[in-house]
Amino acid sequence: MPRSSDHPIDRIFLDRQSPRSFTDDEIPEAELLTLLEAARWAPSSSNIQPWRFIWARRGTEQWKQFLPLLLPGNRRWADRAAALVFIVSATERVKSDGTSAPSATHAYDAGITSGFLALQAHMRGWSTHFMAGIDKDGARSALHVPDSFAIHTAVAIGRRGPAEALSEELRAREVPSDRRPLDETAFEGRFPADP
Ligand SMILES: Cc1cc2nc3c(=O)[nH]c(=O)nc-3n(C[C@H](O)[C@H](O)[C@H](O)COP(=O)(O)O)c2cc1C
Repeated sequence: MPRSSDHPIDRIFLDRQSPRSFTDDEIPEAELLTLLEAARWAPSSSNIQPWRFIWARRGTEQWKQFLPLLLPGNRRWADRAAALVFIVSATERVKSDGTSAPSATHAYDAGITSGFLALQAHMRGWSTHFMAGIDKDGARSALHVPDSFAIHTAVAIGRRGPAEALSEELRAREVPSDRRPLDETAFEGRFPADP
């Protein structure tokens, strides 16, 4: 059943979902770059843009390196995605005097860019599925991510496939998720005593 909202919103927010079933469709490099281009235009604190994206498309040499970096529970379905993108962000920012200081917002900024990526993908008929279930140490080493960057997620991107293509166990999870009601999420004036 299609998801519904408490208040009227654009369908894009309801129809975007994180599937585990993907078709065999490949994603052209130019198309993947369009999705990452949208992510590049996300807002960030002081426009620092701490994010970096490290990508591979299925069927390439890099793909063979990327797949083992997913934890097994994710690898068993994400191996059918058309692309994988690791999202990392700089944990330090350069201040106006040229010295570095810890960035208080890099993870927040990485979250916003991820949202832009997901929505641009959806608008162009691609599904995204973010995964925190990754081997971060392995990714740091295999993808040459400097210590000054935090590794957040990998996102699987592909055309959504039929739930029937999944194993019984995964098929049972291929259902639209719901959300906590808005009146338990947004509060006028103050945080409630009993949240
Ligand atoms: C930061 C983050 C990490 C996630 N990690 C995983 C993961 O490792 N494996 C997985 O199957 N789904 C993962 N998800 C997907 C969420 O479970 C999913 O977005 C959530 O249940 C809401 O469903 P929806 O995206 O279909 O609306 C992750 C999502 C986010 C944003």
